[in-house]
Amino acid sequence: MQESWQGGAKQESSISHGPPFRDKLEAGVDHVTVWWLDLKSIREDDWQLLESLLEDSELERSTRFHFDRDRDVYIAAHALTRGLLTWWTGLPARDWRFTAGDHGKPEVTPPPGLPRLRVNLSHTRELAAVALTVDNDVGVDVEWLERVNDVDQLAKRVFAADERALLAATPSERKTEIFLTFWTLKEAYVKAIGKGLSQPLDAFAFTLEPPVIRFDDIEADDAALWRFRHLRPTDRHKLAVGVRHPHPERLSMEIGEAPLDYLRNLGAASSSSA
Ligand SMILES: CC(C)(COP(=O)(O)OP(=O)(O)OC[C@H]1O[C@@H](n2cnc3c(N)ncnc32)[C@H](O)[C@@H]1OP(=O)(O)O)[C@@H](O)C(=O)NCCC(=O)NCCS
Repeated sequence: MQESWQGGAKQESSISHGPPFRDKLEAGVDHVTVWWLDLKSIREDDWQLLESLLEDSELERSTRFHFDRDRDVYIAAHALTRGLLTWWTGLPARDWRFTAGDHGKPEVTPPPGLPRLRVNLSHTRELAAVALTVDNDVGVDVEWLERVNDVDQLAKRVFAADERALLAATPSERKTEIFLTFWTLKEAYVKAIGKGLSQPLDAFAFTLEPPVIRFDDIEADDAALWRFRHLRPTDRHKLAVGVRHPHPERLSMEIGEAPLDYLRNLGAASSSSA
């Protein structure tokens, strides 16, 4: 599924990824691009190309995963992140550097002359995703739909009362999806503000369709500045993205499957220049 969304009026459409665009940087403050990559679409000989987009510390970290599936999705997510940054700017994928905030949120070290690029990535079983914008806080989360059991018990621990009530009223065959819709939205928020799970998840609540956030303590944050989207990128996954923007009505979001051929070409160029 590929979608675009402009100023709250959702449109289903096919994204032509178009050429990599430097001019996206100028419009970047009002724009979010989200790419996802389904690991089932990656061929055996793609892995080397994706790995060649990573820097040494990422390659080293990728060797430390116990399960191959965790290593693979880590490589895919980090290649995707570098690929999207390069798509927006034209700068070499391996040259991107990141620093971590207080709670570990990676922030792009901006190359001279570029605006403040804000990025966030997420990985789960068989799916990686990344969101990119300029200046504004952005968070993305993906989850594997078969991951959870006993969602009512989990919701008791982490959801706000209204969310638990909606979940309790949901027919059993849809419970996991609704649980993960709330869960990915909540994670997208805590990842956008950079606090991760140190932020209590029951201090704010979502209503769905459209996804709207509400804070128990209205001093805590301004719900009017946030925009969220959630969707099923594949039949096995749920994805949510959240952005804080001073004028959310100006915001456009482009959410779609990553252009794998572009990443392959980038990988080939990167390995030949190494
Ligand atoms: C961030 C967090 C919510 C991620 O949850 P998750 O669903 O397991 O993982 P996801 O795949 O969605 O996201 C992981 C990615 O988010 C990014 N990330 C890490 N910390 C983050 C934070 N505080 N905020 C936003 N993004 C963060 C990283 O890129 C990470 O991927 P990487 O390790 O491959 O680079 C969770 O790990 C967390 O709460 N971390 C904070 C821990 C903390 O407070 N540490 C303080 C000492 S550093």
